[in-house]
Amino acid sequence: MFTQTLTRRVLGSSLVDLLTGPHGVDRYTELVSPTWTRNDARARVVAVRRSTPRSVTLLLEPNDAFPGFKSGQHVNLSVDIDGRRRTRCYSPASAEGQRLIELTIGRHDGGLVSEHLYRNARPGMVVGLEKVGGDFVLPAIRPRRILLISGGSGITPVMSMLRTLQAEQYAGRVSFIHYARSREEACYHDELAAMPRVQVLHGYTRTANDGGSARLDGGEAKLGPSQEHGDLQGYFSAEHLEAAMPNPDAVYVCGPPALVAAVREQCPDAISESFVPPVFTVPANPSGGQVSFLGSTVSVVDDGRTLLEQAEAAGLQPVSGCRMGICHSCTCRKTGGAVRNLITGAISTAESEDIQICVSVPVGDVEIDL
Ligand SMILES: Cc1cc2nc3c(=O)[nH]c(=O)nc-3n(C[C@H](O)[C@H](O)[C@H](O)COP(=O)(O)OP(=O)(O)OC[C@H]3O[C@@H](n4cnc5c(N)ncnc54)[C@H](O)[C@@H]3O)c2cc1C
Ligand code: FES
Repeated sequence: MFTQTLTRRVLGSSLVDLLTGPHGVDRYTELVSPTWTRNDARARVVAVRRSTPRSVTLLLEPNDAFPGFKSGQHVNLSVDIDGRRRTRCYSPASAEGQRLIELTIGRHDGGLVSEHLYRNARPGMVVGLEKVGGDFVLPAIRPRRILLISGGSGITPVMSMLRTLQAEQYAGRVSFIHYARSREEACYHDELAAMPRVQVLHGYTRTANDGGSARLDGGEAKLGPSQEHGDLQGYFSAEHLEAAMPNPDAVYVCGPPALVAAVREQCPDAISESFVPPVFTVPANPSGGQVSFLGSTVSVVDDGRTLLEQAEAAGLQPVSGCRMGICHSCTCRKTGGAVRNLITGAISTAESEDIQICVSVPVGDVEIDL
């Protein structure tokens, strides 16, 4: 312990900074051990579970540079695939304040990072863990009656909330509805069934007989043998709300946009998060300005799509992650012209500034340094 503290102090000293400049101390210490870095938050995979056919759960041991997270927040996970660093957001499923972080990653058919981790994650693998963020969190003063709802891989931040409430012996009422395509694909099913003081309801949206197509009937809520744990039929509806918790004080929902919309219809104040990027409508009258991508010879005439989409359509490969303005991995320097941020609507004209190209569209001529 004493040696570790001493080592940390020595590595943190300004003399070490001076001696290791311009690369910084991390570029030397990582040669000894990839997670032995002072500034770069990284984690070593210590266990891997594949408990459903379409997900992989990683248990990560972060280094001291990782600042921790609040339940419901997300982190940027980076991994090298074929020599290129790829970054995606993942929401830890573990309770806040735990030493080990649990991530459950759902497989996306044709998805780069999720498929890579599903196939290749193994103990000893090292990943980057940067930029903890997000407002999908429980308030410091916990409401008395909390309803949590999730769909598919949206279970992770909600699981973290549930585990955190359990750890602090929350005395209020909490109900949880989780939607999965089938019982087989429902993550954390057994842990949830054994969880005390929580009413857990499962909704399965596909059945063996419907050939894989989703059931569209709202369906009446059917509780299973126990009042605490049961199954619901169909998609979220007023009946599901009634079965889970009528008049909750706070509702949290994380899942596909259709689930979030259905919950908001019944509970307009629900706090929501979706992992899927929004589809931005392309304007009928794009600016038609000249978009120049510095660092290449490519320039295009603005067609109204985001700068990221226009760069990709022109054959360039800018770095991207969430594609919805959250992870900041697409941040590039705009060296001239004006852009509009599709999330905030703000137009910025500064000559030199960093912008997120996944949510920025040109307003006239733009120069962007990819
Ligand atoms: C805040 C936040 C938290 C998140 N937390 C979690 C979590 O805890 N667990 C989890 O599983 N996920 C989570 N996600 C989603 C996660 O970040 C990734 O989006 C997801 O893992 C898919 O990444 P990928 O690299 O596998 O897929 P990508 O390669 O990014 O592809 C995404 C989808 O687009 C399709 N696609 C790719 N390229 C093309 C193309 N050229 N044309 C058409 N389609 C294409 C793919 O087939 C795939 O279905 C979260 C997202 C956000 C924003
Ligand atoms: S890709 Fe995540 S902010 Fe742009």
